[in-house]
Parts: sequence; structure tokens; C-alpha cells
Amino acid sequence: LDVIVLHCEKNNKAHKTNDISVNRLIVRRGQSFLVTFELHGPSRPTTDLLELKVETGPQPSEALGTRSVFRLPEGCGKGSSWKVKVHQGSVFLAGSITLDITSPADAPVGEYRLSVKTSATASVGSSLGKLLLLFNPWCKEDWVHLPEEEERQEYVMREQGLVYKGSDKYISSMAWNFGQFEDDIVDICLKLLDVNPKCLCDPAKDFSARCNPIYVSRVVSAMINANDDRGVLMGRWDGRYDGGMSPTHWNGSVEVLRRWLKNGSNPVKYGQCWVFAAVMCTVLRCLGIPCRVVSNFQSAHDTDKNLTIDYFFSDYGVRPKQSPDSVWNYHVWVEAWMRRPDLSAGSLYDGWQVVDPTPQEKSTDVYCCGPAPVKAILQGHVDLKYDVPFVFAEVNADRVTWMVFADGSKKKISTDSVSVGQNISTKAVGSDKRVDITANYKHAEAYFIYFRNLIIQNGAVSTCHNNSPR
Ligand SMILES: *[C@@H]1O[C@H](CO)[C@@H](O)[C@H](O)[C@H]1NC(C)=O
Ligand SMILES: *[C@@H]1O[C@H](CO)[C@@H](O)[C@H](O)[C@H]1NC(C)=O
Ligand SMILES: *[C@@H]1O[C@H](CO)[C@@H](O)[C@H](O)[C@H]1NC(C)=O
Ligand SMILES: *[C@@H]1O[C@H](CO)[C@@H](O)[C@H](O)[C@H]1NC(C)=O
Repeated sequence: LDVIVLHCEKNNKAHKTNDISVNRLIVRRGQSFLVTFELHGPSRPTTDLLELKVETGPQPSEALGTRSVFRLPEGCGKGSSWKVKVHQGSVFLAGSITLDITSPADAPVGEYRLSVKTSATASVGSSLGKLLLLFNPWCKEDWVHLPEEEERQEYVMREQGLVYKGSDKYISSMAWNFGQFEDDIVDICLKLLDVNPKCLCDPAKDFSARCNPIYVSRVVSAMINANDDRGVLMGRWDGRYDGGMSPTHWNGSVEVLRRWLKNGSNPVKYGQCWVFAAVMCTVLRCLGIPCRVVSNFQSAHDTDKNLTIDYFFSDYGVRPKQSPDSVWNYHVWVEAWMRRPDLSAGSLYDGWQVVDPTPQEKSTDVYCCGPAPVKAILQGHVDLKYDVPFVFAEVNADRVTWMVFADGSKKKISTDSVSVGQNISTKAVGSDKRVDITANYKHAEAYFIYFRNLIIQNGAVSTCHNNSPR
């Protein structure tokens, strides 16, 4: 075939990806794009078909949704296959034809090879080129659909943001350059998916599961930290940052992601929670999943998941017992917007989901956290995936102080059920104001204490992981 036109500028503008590039085809799921090429010689109306094929990943398969073969006349594709119709020209005449191609709203995201078979090219297909497919918050059928244009501008398109730090007494903000549309970032994001352990272990299944924002966001939360994989950032909290940069050095994600790629996907040194969260926000926005950075003040880290942060003091002159629990003056995570059809309760848990890339506790043997529905955290539905009990404790745990006696017995000396989980903050839509979203996570404290005791009595605080990728 000659004269293949992918209309990159026009298509990318229509798909809001022209900020990434207008020199390659980058489109979003469930939305049509145009491709033009030259047909040599007329075909016979009754017998000839024009057949297109898209494939992604190393082992494309129709059963797994990573290959689709679809035809003209339209309507010949299978159920959730890609679709094509004629935009301009005719299959029955020689000359240029423009096709209107639409991917399903649940197609795996990533890079596709597009090819075509006509009577003229006989049995072998000829390549039309490559295209990159992203999630589509503008498309109603996509699980990441976000109805308000103002919110899509903030949570998908905006490249500059604010991250809140400090303490509940004095909250400060720092400017962050997410830079999700800088030219090479989209390729770095795909590379991050390609080197994730699930992909290395079973690429056919991983490429297929990239249709699912629940799966993709969980994989990204594991890949932003470098624990157990070739992730982006190495965490360090002891103040010794030689051989790398102090976490306070960074003010944008682009430099971090580029360094990771340049150094052969070895971890960049060093990150702490706000760097992990802000870099994750870049990757999700780039892939098309709406998200925002959220700061929680007086954030608990409850290692034994029993909703108390225990402090131990001794009355007999030896070192107090070390507690693995802790309270951080603030902690930063990400909220990503998506539906949760995997949780059987209609649309109850759709919407914001906590995903936390900072390595704190292992979840299904990997340092990752979420997506945990914010609505499940509010309602105390702690038996839901993923990692709801952990996030629930971060915003709700009691601080309990114990006195330890020489015989090993201990006595509770005080309980503070108020201070953990304060002033949960994120940047406002369309302005640089701070919004307090604590009420999304917590009921008023009095109601809550009654309610939390119910949960503890019912023994509902247990982890419940189901790692099925789809
Ligand atoms: C980050 O730091 C660089 C170099 O100091 C500066 O030019 C840039 O404006 C900063 N970016 C933000 C978002 O503050
Ligand atoms: C690059 O990766 C290697 C191997 O992990 C590491 O030793 C080195 O410090 C890294 N270089 C930089 C500049 O981070
Ligand atoms: C929570 O777990 C710690 C350590 O296992 C224990 O000492 C403490 O008593 C527990 N708290 C409650 C309220 O069960
Ligand atoms: C944090 O929240 C508390 C309780 O709502 C409020 O009194 C306090 O002023 C807030 N702190 C800041 C810095 O806004």
C-alpha cells in the first residue's frame, strides 16, 4: 500500500493527546479516528471484503482481547471487537479511501500494530502503522469516565499541581510539575508496565489485563516504589542520602522518570511519600486515568491492622518496648477515579479510589496498596479489596499508650481517638485553593467511635485479597 495517512494531528486533537505529540497516532478508547490509504483496483461487491487487524503485545490473541480482526462491510466484527466504517470513498472503486475506526471502550491500553488486507494485497496483510491507545475519561462506557469537563481538565489534562505538606497546625503547599505530556513520558509509562513482574511472568495475560484500570492502577502502585521489582524510586527516611538526591530535591516527575529510564530502569534515589505519590499521579494521568494527590495529616501506620497505634513505656528502667506502629505528621497518596464492577454492590464503590505507592506494608506479598474505594473507607466496609483496612487505619486509628511492667504485664494508660487522620487535603478544581476532603473519609468522631467499636467486635478487620488480574 502507498499513501497511508494516519491524520495524527487531527485525530490526536480530537482525542486530546496532541499535547503529547502530533507526529504519531495516539487515541483514546471507545472514540473513532480516521485512517486514509489508496486502494488499487476495484473489488467485487459480492465477494471481496476489506479486513483490518490490530494487535498488541508479544502474544496477541482474540480470546484475550489483544487482537481484533474486523471487516467492511461494517457489522461483521464479533461482539466487543473493533469497528470500522467508510468515512469517504468506496471499497468498490480504485483510489483513496478514508475509514473511521473505533476501538471498544474496554480494549487494553498500549501500543497496537494496525494492518489491512484487501483483494489487492491478497492473503498477506500490509501494515498501516502503529497506534497508541489510552484510557478515555470522556467516553461514557469507559470505566474511568468522568462526567464534568472542568474535572477532566484538572485531573487528566493539568500538568502543574500542588502537594500539601507540613502538619495539621500549619499546612504548606509545594508546586509540582507532573509533566505527563512531555514527549517521552508516555513511552516511559508503557515501559513501566512492561517491566512489571506480572508482565515478565505472563505477558499474554498482563497485556490483556491492561483493559482494566483497577489492574493497571494496582500495578502502577507497585512499580513506583522499587521494593520487590524494577520500580522507579527507592525510599529512604534516615536522612542519609549520599549516592543520590534528597527526597526534597525533586519538584517534578519528569526528571525522576527520565533518570529511571536512562539508568536502565534501576531505581532513582531517593523518594518519600510525596515524591512517590506525585510520580504516580503523572503516570496515571498520562495513561488517561483521572487522579489527584491527597495529603493526610497525623497519618497512622498500623502494622498489625488492629486499628490502634500502640506506644509502650516501661516503669522499670529499661528501654521501652519498640512499637512497629507509628504516626507520620503527614502522608501523601493518590486518589484515582474509576468504576468498581468487581465489587458486587451496583455502583456503590465507584468513584475515587485510594492508591498508595509508598512502600509501607506488603499486600499479596508485594509493596502496593489499593485501589481502595474511598466510600468503603467512609462506611467501614473493611472486608473489601484492595487494602481497605490499612487505609481505614491511616485515617481512623486510636493512639493507645501502654505501661509495661517488669513481669511483662501491661496496662492501658490513655487512648486518643481524635488526633489521627486530620485535614485530608487536595488541590481544588481549576484553582490553587486547598480543599478539605476529610468528610469523604470519616464520619463525625462521636458517631465514629461507636461505629468503629462495632467493627472491632465483629472481627471484621482482616485483609481480604483477591489478586485476579481482570
Ligand atoms: C523546579 O526547579 C527548577 C530549577 O530550580 C525551576 O526552574 C522550576 O520552575 C521548578 N518547578 C516548579 C514546579 O516549581
Ligand atoms: C544506576 O543504577 C545502578 C545500579 O542499581 C546504581 O548503582 C547507580 O547508583 C545508579 N545511578 C544513578 C545515577 O542513580
Ligand atoms: C493491637 O496489637 C498490639 C500488638 O499485637 C497489641 O499489643 C494491642 O493490645 C492490640 N490492641 C488492641 C486494641 O487489640
Ligand atoms: C485542621 O483541622 C482542624 C479540625 O477540623 C481545624 O481546627 C484546623 O484549623 C485545621 N488546620 C488547618 C491548618 O487548617
